[in-house]
Amino acid sequence: MAAEKIFLIGLMGSGKSYWAKKMSKWIKCAGYDLDDLIVMNEEKTIAEIFAEDGEDYFRKTESKLLKWFKEKKKYVLATGGGAPCFNDNMQWMKKEGVVIWLDESVEILVQRLIKEKAHRPLIAHLDEAGIATFLQQQLVNRFSFYQQAHYRLGSDEIVESVLKKLIQKHVA
Ligand code: S3P
Repeated sequence: MAAEKIFLIGLMGSGKSYWAKKMSKWIKCAGYDLDDLIVMNEEKTIAEIFAEDGEDYFRKTESKLLKWFKEKKKYVLATGGGAPCFNDNMQWMKKEGVVIWLDESVEILVQRLIKEKAHRPLIAHLDEAGIATFLQQQLVNRFSFYQQAHYRLGSDEIVESVLKKLIQKHVA
């Protein structure tokens, strides 16, 4: 399967934005972050959108901006943690290109997220144990979507070398 479009999915804190930037440099193509586009489009932070407009509105906007990528050619897109789980987003991404699930362990995610939880409305009010419980529950709820990805990279994998191999395999 040749792919000009790569989508990174996974729970918040799994490194989607970080790896999308790196991959886009390796491939020499555009790298995008769906959350950043939502923020630019709405001229509000994610936290403000959740607080003022609600999650339903956020999810509609997220789907709308994801579909905007239909017209774009070669890119790597970091999606928000919930993006594959709403509307037909996952099917759409799978049809458009290659979907890679960054399946980092909950323990590592908690360590990363505790420092930057203020920007993340779903966990901003939680302590360390609360974030761990929340992420475990989210993984259960989202598993059926995430597991549809073409590839799943576990936390024990050397992410950089696997991603480079996938690029060789899929990107012209
Ligand atoms: C969300 C994850 C966030 C952002 C929003 C909702 C989620 O993106 O889209 O706060 O539902 O998991 P990141 O995964 O980039 O943090």
